[in-house]
Amino acid sequence: MLVSAKEMLNKARDGHYAVGQFNINNLEWTKSILQTAEELRAPVILGVSEGAGKYMCGFDTVVGMVNGMLKGLNITVPVALHLDHGTFEGAKACINAGFSSIMFDGSHYPIEENLKLTTALVNTCDILGISLEAEVGAIGGEEDGVVGMGECADPAECKMIADLGVTMLAAGIGNIHGKYPANWPGLRFDVLENIKATVGDMPLVLHGGTGIPEDMIKKAISLGVAKINVNTECQLSFSAATRKYIEEGKDLVGKGFDPRKVLAPGCEAIKATVREKMEIFGCIGKA
Ligand code: 13P
Repeated sequence: MLVSAKEMLNKARDGHYAVGQFNINNLEWTKSILQTAEELRAPVILGVSEGAGKYMCGFDTVVGMVNGMLKGLNITVPVALHLDHGTFEGAKACINAGFSSIMFDGSHYPIEENLKLTTALVNTCDILGISLEAEVGAIGGEEDGVVGMGECADPAECKMIADLGVTMLAAGIGNIHGKYPANWPGLRFDVLENIKATVGDMPLVLHGGTGIPEDMIKKAISLGVAKINVNTECQLSFSAATRKYIEEGKDLVGKGFDPRKVLAPGCEAIKATVREKMEIFGCIGKA
């Protein structure tokens, strides 16, 4: 059964480790992540962007697939199915579809609007036992070939959002979605420390987990980060392994063209990436 992310994140915060959110795109992605979490006895959060939800034929399909896998693969570790960077409408759709966790990203709105919309979701999620992530400060990333550096969150705004009663808070601290540019100055630990000091117990979320050096990840965890999102890194390892299979001509040997064979190296690569991240996050054996 899917669970809210609340308990796993509170435990992570208290135990000084982080739970990984790994984004899913299809059946292979989902299966690889769930099998790795089960094997390593790690709690896990499956992230679904609205685009990925659409690609997978809608949120109902995603919920059906994940629930089916929990049963079919005998998954016993805690698993949350989480909307990643949701709009208000997307959040409502995922609540109706049966997601166990929601991110409402109101960071691009003026703070008053972010507060208003987040408030509307806090009560609903509370009643339904769904965890809710909110965001303050923009997380950078590449758009049309240009890498934006994002915008660090204002600790006072973080406190206003945290006080609404959300489960966890994503705050921009110089992190970026996708690959980090060579001139990236690193995470702003001074900002993270200020945010932690103002929001207190609230588990913090670090987006853009791809490519952040291990020492920075560990330091962020020590300063209150309890959930780390990874997406691009699984995409990179999946495509590199698939490319190798094709370039080596393995699809041309015997039944090597069978999609289950073509996609197998990519699945193994995702598993290796998830394992590597879970080792760094410290969540292995915490289920
Ligand atoms: P990356 O793609 O940089 O790993 O970021 C993932 C993320 O933060 C999803 O919300």
